[in-house]
Amino acid sequence: MKIGIIGTGYVGLPTGVGLAELGNQVICIDKSEEKINSLKAGKLTIFEDGLEDIFFKNVQNKRLTFTTSMQEGVEDADVVIIAVGTPPHPETKEADMKYIHAAASELAKYLKGYTVVADKSTVPVGTGDEVEDIIRKQNPEADFDVVSLPEFLREGFAVHDFFAPDRIVVGVNKDRAVNVIKELYKPFEGKTEILFVNRKSAETIKYASNAFLAMKIHYINEMADFCEKAGADVFEVAKGMGLDERIGRRFLNPGPGYGGSCFPKDTNAMACMGKKYGAPLMLIETAIRGNDLRKAKMAERILSVVKDKKDAKIAVWGLAFKNGTDDVRESPAMQIVEQMLKNGANLKVYDPKAMENAKMLLGDSVEYADTELDAAKDVDVVAVLTEWPEFSEVNLVELKSIMKSPKIVDLRNMLKAKDPKQHGFEYQCIGLCS
Ligand SMILES: NC(=O)c1ccc[n+]([C@@H]2O[C@H](COP(=O)([O-])OP(=O)(O)OC[C@H]3O[C@@H](n4cnc5c(N)ncnc54)[C@H](O)[C@@H]3O)[C@@H](O)[C@H]2O)c1
Repeated sequence: MKIGIIGTGYVGLPTGVGLAELGNQVICIDKSEEKINSLKAGKLTIFEDGLEDIFFKNVQNKRLTFTTSMQEGVEDADVVIIAVGTPPHPETKEADMKYIHAAASELAKYLKGYTVVADKSTVPVGTGDEVEDIIRKQNPEADFDVVSLPEFLREGFAVHDFFAPDRIVVGVNKDRAVNVIKELYKPFEGKTEILFVNRKSAETIKYASNAFLAMKIHYINEMADFCEKAGADVFEVAKGMGLDERIGRRFLNPGPGYGGSCFPKDTNAMACMGKKYGAPLMLIETAIRGNDLRKAKMAERILSVVKDKKDAKIAVWGLAFKNGTDDVRESPAMQIVEQMLKNGANLKVYDPKAMENAKMLLGDSVEYADTELDAAKDVDVVAVLTEWPEFSEVNLVELKSIMKSPKIVDLRNMLKAKDPKQHGFEYQCIGLCS
């Protein structure tokens, strides 16, 4: 099939590469010339494990091309996928729909022949109707249907999740479009549950899923705080809870709070929708408030272990919102860093993949290190903020020998198994009474 994808970011690029690998002819469209030029020159614009090889393979066999021209990407396509950003509106926190509306309006005039316009961006309920109206107004003659194809990939596992999704959800109100989408997802038939629902249900499934996962994280974080006070061990508690199949083990890892480009914005957008429809979503609202407060509490926890906050030097291990990605959007680590900077802290930071993205936001307000050990040289405390596996492999004897004072605040519980206290560290992790 011929596919045009509008928006070549964390969702659009892996989706385009994956669809090309499945044998489709894919054109990735982005308005950012810098991104498209970089991709045309063979340089990936995001880090995702396993993406590079299939990217090169499909560029070479010419199944994957890149353009800034909407016309080039849309006019021959059987399916046009919209994968532009839906960031939170700075004031209302609703999903800001300007990119979706612009994309719908720009693509409309280039539609030729029957085309399915599929929305992959995470969008408020009713957006399918809006997109349909925008296209019809711009191009009353166009022969098209709009479907919702919510995306569930996890950053850091985008390639894995593209080829082995837990489920594929399709929101569609027209049989003609069902046939096109069935053709698109033929390679997944018999391997993955493909759920056809009405368009508004599909739009809701995406938000309801993300809000549920965010609440699960917030729940175990609150349990961790409780365990610290009550003398229980949150790891034992999480294990005991997770053995119940109705609860499940995943997403019961306590930490500094949920973050990233999806959970914070999607919980906020869902809460706004609840208000709009007169169906308040109080569990979600509580999780949002608690999660926001948590980041400030975590910064305080780190600062509380240094005596003189102004002169103390703190090593920060990890800036990405989670391991396996270079994405720092709404990263708890970045928010904790910013909070500590406000309190006058001197920071030396390191992340295996996210340094470039972090530099764009932090500028010269922090020092940058080349490795985790380089960051730890002569510091008063190491703060572990992202769960990069390599942090758990660090040699504690070497670490202790290069630090000014042997203190670790481990907000991801990465070093717990090594028992830093046995090695002479003052050590704090999450969810254990000290
Ligand atoms: N990042 C994730 O893990 C993830 C997972 C599931 C769903 N989503 C959803 O997918 C959507 C995209 O997220 P993302 O992280 O890929 O965003 P992103 O910011 O990484 O990429 C969006 C891209 O769209 C481009 N763009 C915007 N308007 C355009 C236009 N009119 N024409 C051409 N290009 C345009 C931008 O230049 C940008 O490159 C969002 O709604 C998000 O909530 C994201």
